[in-house]
Amino acid sequence: MSRISYVNGAYVRHMNAVVHIDDRGYQFADAVYEGITVRHGRMVDLEPHLDRLWRSMGELRIAPPMLRRPMRFVFREVIRRNRIENGFLYIQISRGVARRDHAFPAAPLQASLIVTLKRLDVDGIIRRAEVGVKAFSEDDIRWGRCDVKSTSLLPNILAKQSAKEKGGFEAVLVDVQGFVTEGSSTNMWIVRRDGVVQTRSTADNILPGITRATLMRLARELQIKVVEEAFTLKDAKGAAEMFLSSSTGCATPIVELDGQKIGDGTPGPVATRLVEAYRKYMDA
Ligand code: PDD
Repeated sequence: MSRISYVNGAYVRHMNAVVHIDDRGYQFADAVYEGITVRHGRMVDLEPHLDRLWRSMGELRIAPPMLRRPMRFVFREVIRRNRIENGFLYIQISRGVARRDHAFPAAPLQASLIVTLKRLDVDGIIRRAEVGVKAFSEDDIRWGRCDVKSTSLLPNILAKQSAKEKGGFEAVLVDVQGFVTEGSSTNMWIVRRDGVVQTRSTADNILPGITRATLMRLARELQIKVVEEAFTLKDAKGAAEMFLSSSTGCATPIVELDGQKIGDGTPGPVATRLVEAYRKYMDA
């Protein structure tokens, strides 16, 4: 069966899914996106993802291409037509197609909406979280509006590629003051030696991760103390544990950073509890 994607009102074979070359998403990365994990055919944290998508559009003054209810329908239809149980649903909305000019076109545009779905080995992600991953620090050279989930991802891509070439799974982005901001496509957490979990505040120019919010809630239920405060790269290297979070990354422990072991170099008890809680949450 061929993959089916949604492009501006039509469900098409993925290989034929195209947008116009004057699409502002293509020309300027004038677009926002979301990525939602599909587990057992169900979207994980659908409503918070929609809230964030609407916020991103609002911040960039992109007019929503449709209301939330029909959009939910499109998502479900893409999942149904692909018959995928565990997957990654990708949603991208660009300002639309217009003659190339940096400023917004004078007349309001019809925003472009595309939705794709690919298989995702969610059980493999959980297994990876049981082993942990290596990461490397990279300079955070992004702009000042990282709270907007925009497709303008070049600095993220370059950081991830650099980390990958060193043998890492993720890049830990560090600002000029030495503070960890987030990962190239993940939020970053440490478990301090006093057992308190620490993660940067979402008021501090990072993406407000949906998985981050869910993990905060799960941590509270497990009576694990979490503080929203920035930490430095040095703090991370001296931490008891470190982990990353994202829709496709659960709460994956980082067991080695820049070639240095974090804790004893294996997933620690706090991350392990959170992975288990998150797995249960997804499966509920
Ligand atoms: N990335 N920070 C950045 C920069 C991200 O791109 C992402 C998500 C996250 C985690 O957010 P969430 O928990 O809502 O997935 C944090 C997605 C998965 C991506 O770009 O594919």
